[in-house]
Amino acid sequence: MTLSFGVKTVNTLKQELQRRLDVLEQYPIEQELAREGNLTALLKIALKNEVEASEIAAYWLPTTSEIDIKLGFARQVGDEARHYRLICEFLEKRGVSLEDFNPLAEGHSPLFAALQGMSRTVERLAAGQFTREAIAIRRNEMFIRYLEKHGHMDMARIYRDQIQPDETHHHELGCQGLEQLLKNDADVSAARAAMERTLSIADEMKKAVQKKSGLKTLPGC
Ligand SMILES: [Fe+2]
Ligand SMILES: [Fe+2]
Repeated sequence: MTLSFGVKTVNTLKQELQRRLDVLEQYPIEQELAREGNLTALLKIALKNEVEASEIAAYWLPTTSEIDIKLGFARQVGDEARHYRLICEFLEKRGVSLEDFNPLAEGHSPLFAALQGMSRTVERLAAGQFTREAIAIRRNEMFIRYLEKHGHMDMARIYRDQIQPDETHHHELGCQGLEQLLKNDADVSAARAAMERTLSIADEMKKAVQKKSGLKTLPGC
């Protein structure tokens, strides 16, 4: 059976993305994992990521005409909101009050603004689901190891059993949507540009947070 143009292209893009993530998300793991940071501060970063992930999928929903993709975005809106709640419940059990916490008090992130500006479904999927969610999966894998290393088994379990399977589903939505929608070289260029833009903004944002927090193990969404 010969693979369609879309399937072949997505396979290539997946390899490119994993190679880029091998470089961008690589750091001296054991050494970094051993450093105990402020878990509440890290989880508040996760809360902002989750609310933005929910909100961008909601923002795109009414202006995405492909029904499978639209419904995929709708599911993601709910999934990311559920992740937000799971993290809140964990923090509240630890006695952290979130009464006055507003994850968007400092505004939306530069990545959110870039995603908001994307109008084609191909770009949205390439940037939001295909790339942003792949970054989240990588970062969460590391974050789970960090949580386990410091004895936060409950939160590690929530990430492993509940959050990560959803993030994987969101990434798959990106892959499957792109397989269907990529029809020619111009589409592939648009998808690749959206992927690169997402990687570069996410990397800049990560470096800024790492500088501020002094920690390298950051949660995704
Ligand atoms: Fe997600
Ligand atoms: Fe999430």
